[in-house]
Amino acid sequence: MAAKIKRIAINTGGGDAPGLNAVIRAVVISAANKGWEVVGIRDGYNGLLLPQDYPDGGVIPLTRTTVRGITHLGGTILGTTNKGNPAKYPTQDKHGRWYEADRTGELVKLFKKNKIDALIALGGDGSLGIANLLAQKGLRVIGVPKTIDNDLKGTVATFGFDTAVAFATECLDRLHSTAEAHRRVMVVEVMGRYAGWIALNAGISGTADAILIPEIPYDLSKVADSIKYLETRNKHFAIVVVAEGAKPRGGQACVVSKELGRQEKLGGVGEQVARELQELTGRECRTVVLGHLLRGGSPTTFDRLLSLRFGAAAVRALEEGRSGVMVALDPPKVRYVPLAQATQRLKTVPRDCDSVLTARSLGISFGD
Ligand code: F6P
Repeated sequence: MAAKIKRIAINTGGGDAPGLNAVIRAVVISAANKGWEVVGIRDGYNGLLLPQDYPDGGVIPLTRTTVRGITHLGGTILGTTNKGNPAKYPTQDKHGRWYEADRTGELVKLFKKNKIDALIALGGDGSLGIANLLAQKGLRVIGVPKTIDNDLKGTVATFGFDTAVAFATECLDRLHSTAEAHRRVMVVEVMGRYAGWIALNAGISGTADAILIPEIPYDLSKVADSIKYLETRNKHFAIVVVAEGAKPRGGQACVVSKELGRQEKLGGVGEQVARELQELTGRECRTVVLGHLLRGGSPTTFDRLLSLRFGAAAVRALEEGRSGVMVALDPPKVRYVPLAQATQRLKTVPRDCDSVLTARSLGISFGD
């Protein structure tokens, strides 16, 4: 039987996603209704690891008042980071050289020192992988799946994805008129590091002519042929959606930089695709990078509800004595899956999934 809970912590790690604040609110109110105290750790685990850097001490009390009126707000009231992986923490040795240190053992002790009985960790595959390591070291942890990329296994949806797709679709709708007016090819780069779910769903809904995703390496001569074919049907413009992690057949994704303690920064594939398509088609091609705009704004109703359900379920999981699990959407239920299983590998787009088949039926090119 797990020890009785008095005080829990919540943190948000990795890239932000619309719905984080809604989860925080649901956790705080559900926990308060059980008589538990809730604290928030600033910027992933940095509030605990570097308390001296925070005027408020890095760990702040969260009450019903703190979380009032935040359900509809994007971002996270706790702050987040994708540079603070405690298992690979950027640290300087005595000669001033940087290396990645494992600070997870120290972190588990800091939870104890701060009298925190359990953690509810909101994050994507990276942050939930860290949560799993902490659970293995004895911390009671429940994970909540967040990412606009929707690439976490074990859950039908992560919160933030629906909002990102809705916004990307609206942008595609808006680009149609200007593309048609100027007879241009508009190449729209969206986020999607390893998985093309945003590009795929927005591309189909926003009636794109081509969708390029990491799972299907592309050949631009095929895309150019499909754009030329549109001409024969009297369509003189085209919309191409490309995920930032898409790569040409036999080639690599466009990496901007690689820094210590964080993932490679991707970007530039849209510009590259536009340049090459212009040469291949002779048409004027322009690029629009939606990038971080996809992470902003108010969560859709779907994402709000999912976030509130996830937050409440995470508190119920702790009350039931669970640890090392992630809350997951399995309609109509929210269930629990082991963190180890959810973070084993990513949920990428299967080449034979219904959405890919739908796109192909509608004549959308994947450049393959
Ligand atoms: O994980 C979500 C994501 O949106 C990825 O698609 C993207 O590569 C990454 O975040 C970019 O994050 P940042 O610019 O904050 O490092």
